[in-house]
Amino acid sequence: MNPVIDALKFRHACKKFDPKKKIPGPDLDTILEAGCLSPSSFGMEAWKFLVLASDAVRAKLRPACWDQPQVTESSHVVVILAQPGLIDPSNAYVLKSFLRRKLPDDITRAYIEKYKWHMDTEVFPRMNAYAWCSKQCYIALANMMTTAASMGIDSCPMEGFEKKRVEKLLEIDTRKFEVSVLLALGYRAGDQPPRRRYPIDELVEFR
Ligand SMILES: Cc1cc2nc3c(=O)[nH]c(=O)nc-3n(C[C@H](O)[C@H](O)[C@H](O)COP(=O)(O)O)c2cc1C
Repeated sequence: MNPVIDALKFRHACKKFDPKKKIPGPDLDTILEAGCLSPSSFGMEAWKFLVLASDAVRAKLRPACWDQPQVTESSHVVVILAQPGLIDPSNAYVLKSFLRRKLPDDITRAYIEKYKWHMDTEVFPRMNAYAWCSKQCYIALANMMTTAASMGIDSCPMEGFEKKRVEKLLEIDTRKFEVSVLLALGYRAGDQPPRRRYPIDELVEFR
């Protein structure tokens, strides 16, 4: 008996939305607030949430998303954008982000050094800035889905799209933003299919 587990059980990757049902503004705001409240590594928040409400825009977008009906039949599509240009340790944005902590100057400098060391030794040898920002975007994605579910709102996370085509169609300024992942939101039409999950004792180990 836990409200978060209840929401997680309600949530499924909704393939069939009721196109007639629209999410009320305050509920949509709550879902977006959950995205903005999400944690990100070092608190960089290198993301942006582009909300597509327009039917015309979503119809234009659908062919670039494997023609998935969720794009047009949902109520809204949130395009989660990564901002990989922001997170280079030498970028003024990184300093601005750390300054928000209002720490003494020497501690701020030490934090930035630690950040630079982490990015140079652990992150950039393994992945590019887009992939690292995208990892954070997926935390916001999950929080928005769970928050939506807690209000009886369905969702479908979507990686099934052609990134460059979507960026072109939406006229994204790719010098600043890159599409990370999409989130369709709305209300299910019909029943949820049975959930498939591997047993918990195969996935969890205690030491
Ligand atoms: C990052 C991510 C991307 C996904 N992309 C798509 C997609 O493009 N289209 C789709 O129908 N489902 C997509 N899914 C849904 C998964 O297939 C689904 O979550 C998985 O099969 C488990 O089912 P459930 O979410 O209903 O429990 C995606 C899921 C995640 C987490």
